[in-house]
Amino acid sequence: MVPLVFFCLFAIATGEANSIPYAQIRSVPQQGSTPTNTNTGPVPSESFPFQDHLNDDFTLYWNFNSTHITFEMVVKTNGWVGFGISPKGAMKSSDVIIGWVKDGRVHFADRHAEGQFLPAVDSSQDWTLVMGQEIGQYTVFKVTRLLETCDDQDVSIKPGTTRVIYAYSNTDPLSDDAIRYHGNTRGTKSVLLLDPPTSEQHTDALPSGVKVLEFTNRNTSVPADDTTYHCTMWRLPDMGGKNHMIRYEPVIQAGHETLVHHMVLYYCSGTVREGSFPASSYKTSPQQVYNCYNVLIAWAIGGKIFNFPKHVGYPVGGADDPGIFMLETHYDNPRMRSGYVDSSGMRMYLTSQLRQHDAGILLIGVNVDEYHIIPPYEKSFLSQGICAEPCLAKGLGDQEIHAYHFSLITYTGSGRPGNPCLPFLPHNLHRVWATRKSMPTISPS
Ligand SMILES: *[C@@H]1O[C@H](CO)[C@@H](O)[C@H](O)[C@H]1NC(C)=O
Ligand SMILES: *[C@@H]1O[C@H](CO)[C@@H](O)[C@H](O)[C@H]1NC(C)=O
Repeated sequence: MVPLVFFCLFAIATGEANSIPYAQIRSVPQQGSTPTNTNTGPVPSESFPFQDHLNDDFTLYWNFNSTHITFEMVVKTNGWVGFGISPKGAMKSSDVIIGWVKDGRVHFADRHAEGQFLPAVDSSQDWTLVMGQEIGQYTVFKVTRLLETCDDQDVSIKPGTTRVIYAYSNTDPLSDDAIRYHGNTRGTKSVLLLDPPTSEQHTDALPSGVKVLEFTNRNTSVPADDTTYHCTMWRLPDMGGKNHMIRYEPVIQAGHETLVHHMVLYYCSGTVREGSFPASSYKTSPQQVYNCYNVLIAWAIGGKIFNFPKHVGYPVGGADDPGIFMLETHYDNPRMRSGYVDSSGMRMYLTSQLRQHDAGILLIGVNVDEYHIIPPYEKSFLSQGICAEPCLAKGLGDQEIHAYHFSLITYTGSGRPGNPCLPFLPHNLHRVWATRKSMPTISPS
């Protein structure tokens, strides 16, 4: 799982900044050209607006309305398939369904898990099976459920992050009570079921003369470890002066949709060396990496294209631009597969037709470091990052700030999934900024 802290450290400090390669200039890709998983199996029974790869073998499609959610699972197995909603990502207290197709007959039940053993069948069956079939090497289930079932053996589905769990096995059970253990073909994933990233902005027309830059990993060998961080440095080619970044999007290598867990593109300043290196935790001096702490783009799995508002661009390539970037990638390889060679990364769209406003990024929060202490025995506690007025004034002066987008990021400790309570953040931000002379417009997205 995600370690408590991580930093990309410069393991070998050799070479000069000019040994860092230039980011590649690409032609504008066709819409939707970002590779998608080629191993998704049979096409779903209807066109679903949302989909996610839970792992290489398990694709989840879904749609919802004000009362119901419909899932279609396409899983590369001819055995049983389990899927569920879990309060914290573990089997305990989760609401699960298990089904399989044997000799053309569909077996299916709504169950609830009390622990790490076969989930019992619920007294109230609240998931409705719409379809179940085997297609070649795949098993497909389509189910629908009320968002709120009012059954205390179910977990209600609400806006925000939902933790789904899944498991499958390549054997069919002998009976409904003899479902064999799934082994390591199981997992959990955080999914925004009811507020997935919208895709409506995908069709925004780009102005002419847009330049596309790619900051990607260069054939990075991903070790057969659960968690790997890797850093790749890039230099900005000569952009002929200030440009505005107006869009960015992830470039995920086909088949690596679940491997690439998150990426952060940092701006560096001062001295940086070395082109590509594994990251580690606080083992040696973090001094060097402090030269690459300005987050420019943060992407996490599930995130899609991002367009800046029509009158806003992020300045890149101006006279004072240090022009060095560090792409940090977190690889999530829970099945510890070897042999992955990855060239995923981020793609940036730049225009020299400057827009009305420059964008900036304000990082607010609490650094996870040795001074951030979780009080012992506390069930919950509040972590506050405070932007004091004198400090904000020093950085921003009296200019008016309009916030147009929030990205929330948390790290959890000791390998356990956290359950941080984040939605209040924008609200508090509003309150903090209300003390400034000019009142920013806050529109969380
Ligand atoms: C919502 O979806 C469910 C399941 O597909 C369907 O039965 C129901 O009629 C839908 N409700 C509305 C208001 O469309
Ligand atoms: C990655 O490897 C492939 C195949 O060897 C090669 O064609 C490609 O140029 C490499 N990419 C980079 C960025 O080194």
